[in-house]
Amino acid sequence: MGHAMPEWIYIGAVIALLVWVGAEAWDAERLLEKAPVEAKTIKVIGQQWFWTFEHEDGTKEVGEVHVKKGIPYKFDLISQDVNHAFNVPDFTMTLDVIPGRLNTIWSTFDVPGIYLIQCREYCGYSHYNMKANLIVEDTTPQEVAALLADNSPQTASVASETAQTTSSEPAIQADALLTILLGSSVQGSPDYDPDVLTVTKGNTIEVKNADTVPHTVTSGTGPQDANSAKQFDTGIINGGESAVLKTDSLTAGDYAYYCMVHPYMTGTLKVQ
Ligand code: CUA
Repeated sequence: MGHAMPEWIYIGAVIALLVWVGAEAWDAERLLEKAPVEAKTIKVIGQQWFWTFEHEDGTKEVGEVHVKKGIPYKFDLISQDVNHAFNVPDFTMTLDVIPGRLNTIWSTFDVPGIYLIQCREYCGYSHYNMKANLIVEDTTPQEVAALLADNSPQTASVASETAQTTSSEPAIQADALLTILLGSSVQGSPDYDPDVLTVTKGNTIEVKNADTVPHTVTSGTGPQDANSAKQFDTGIINGGESAVLKTDSLTAGDYAYYCMVHPYMTGTLKVQ
């Protein structure tokens, strides 16, 4: 006993350590909350069981999001259905995604590459497949400076000009009907009906999602197609809902399309 240090030294050291750890944690949390003013905003929508990303210029991505090295990004997280959690393990970002709430998290990515985005809150059957890619593109310091200087307000998306989703209006004035069959999300099942839809330029097409999960009709051969969504894109059509596709801006020809959520679903639109 005689040579042991008095107990108060240990207690004092433990208290000091706890205070320090607490202060650090509080500081880190505060830093995470406050995004820099020049940060670019990306709206992140979580739903069973995929992620949709919407950039400031209205560009939408499903299952992957492109960002640029050295630019701060603010992620506005919202849920379309149940509780999810947005997690980027390589950048130790995790935040709840809750229906009826907007949660915000921000980060700057300094190393180009492809990183995993996953859901960290059990959200049902395909929770373990609720993943996306964070693609960090390389930039030069000049590009970063130019991008950060560009704070001009952005306008609405191109996609929304050619397509609009109507939620519960039963009567759509359409010249043709494209149905997404019940069970389409199961790979190998019949999906778009008819497989090849022939219309006359100028016709309006009703796209009816008769399935119970969200789908899209997006021009292109798949997510890898550089021209994906350039000709037309309904955006997400929730189960039981319909969208309208206009063909006024399309020239005669065959257009391949697919579903952004389930890229194995494909079809052809023939415009005469
Ligand atoms: Cu979304 Cu788990």
